Amino acid sequence: KRWNVYVTREIPKPALDMLAQYCDMEVNPEDCVLKREVLLEKVQGRDGVLCLLTDRIDKEVLDAARDAVIFSNYAVGFDNIDVEYASTRGILISNTPGVLTEATAEMAWALLFAVARRVVESDRYNREGKFNGWGPLHFLGQNVTGKTLGVIGVGRIGTSFAKKAQGFEMKILYSNTRVNADFEAQTGGKYVDLDTLLQESDFISLHVPLSPKTKHLISGRELKLMKKSAILINTSRGPVVDEKALVKALKEGEIWGAGLDVYEKEPEIAPGLAELNNVVMCPHIASATEETRTKMGMMAVENLLAGLGGKIPPNCLNPEAIERRGKN
Ligand code: GLV
Ligand code: GLV
Repeated sequence: KRWNVYVTREIPKPALDMLAQYCDMEVNPEDCVLKREVLLEKVQGRDGVLCLLTDRIDKEVLDAARDAVIFSNYAVGFDNIDVEYASTRGILISNTPGVLTEATAEMAWALLFAVARRVVESDRYNREGKFNGWGPLHFLGQNVTGKTLGVIGVGRIGTSFAKKAQGFEMKILYSNTRVNADFEAQTGGKYVDLDTLLQESDFISLHVPLSPKTKHLISGRELKLMKKSAILINTSRGPVVDEKALVKALKEGEIWGAGLDVYEKEPEIAPGLAELNNVVMCPHIASATEETRTKMGMMAVENLLAGLGGKIPPNCLNPEAIERRGKN
């Protein structure tokens, strides 16, 4: 039997080609985030769905997808999905861990350097024709070598990010839900409580998943604890940072700068943020390399096909769902 699947937005071709070998599929033809009402309509009657982090897969969508056995998320983060409810409905959920670790860690470094050395701001200045000759006081930034790096959340991405600090001879502090001996062995990082990390780090990078516990983990109080020279990097999820408080801290010089790839209300950006020169803002592109996006696609398709075939996908987030199947 050929399965009937829906893909909420075009993903790299090798992945779609593989899917087409086994499935009748429909792909959202528009290169934009799928509208809510279209999502609700299109999931009906499908055996499986390949969805993105921009699709909110809640009770309503899962109920509309009455025949679906799996939602395969094209992302490592899965805060967009009500996994618990999916389990009660017997619907498997999978994600794409591992393949985007390096790309995301590299992006955190790109942002750190861009902010510390004012790369984007000075590029803008140059394009505007303002370069009038070398100046001893032009665009003074901060050295990165020898500084203290604070890593919040040391899963795969946080670990990869910290490992790359080695060539810059940095002292590494980390905070995490638990001591991570493997992280310490790989990076020489020292476990500290969050407040100590905020107070002592020169650069702070966020690598936690979004959950009720990590929402606004960095808010006004935390920003005040940071050094005035601190740089905050966020490649995790926007709501981990209270964006309004961040705008205020950046404006008032409570911290020195920020490098952001994610936003609290994507794709909206908090009022005032875009007017600041001490922030570098990318449009959620940390995993956006040719290689990585293709690997994410292949992984998402493999998960989808496994689920459709009655198996537990390799990157399943709720294997227990399979026992609920047909029971409600
Ligand atoms: C991207 O943000 C992802 O979670 O894969
Ligand atoms: C996500 O993949 C993480 O573990 O950091």
